[in-house]
Amino acid sequence: MRKIIMPEWISVGVLSERTGVSVSALHFYERKGLIKSQRNTSNHRQYPKHVIRVVSIIQVAQRTGFSLEDILLELEGLPNRTRVTIDDWEALGGRWQNELDKKITQLVELKEMMADCIGCGCLSLERCRLLNPYDELGEKGTGPRLMTK
Ligand code: FES
Repeated sequence: MRKIIMPEWISVGVLSERTGVSVSALHFYERKGLIKSQRNTSNHRQYPKHVIRVVSIIQVAQRTGFSLEDILLELEGLPNRTRVTIDDWEALGGRWQNELDKKITQLVELKEMMADCIGCGCLSLERCRLLNPYDELGEKGTGPRLMTK
């Protein structure tokens, strides 16, 4: 099988084709600062081929529930954003895995709380852990706490 050699710079169309992300989404990522392009002499956007990995990481992170703001923060912490290495990906993946573990724990707790509420329906600020987990509102003082101006 012949290996296809990828040019150093690729168009938005090629990037879209290689990542499965629509051109409009790639432009959106660029507006959000997640990826960067350069204009060529014909004034067309060109992306360094390594941005394929960045877009793949963005897709994985979004699928696992991370916001674009979270992803941008992580990408900004990398030594070289245009050339994300396998080591970078392992470090990012490890951190995101820990975040996912925390979210899973919280969701399991939430599910257990909800099980207590099914069939109850009281929605009592004093009793209902789902409405007022660990009586957090009670710690803020007496009277209505959920009212906004
Ligand atoms: S609805 Fe009654 S305890 Fe949550």
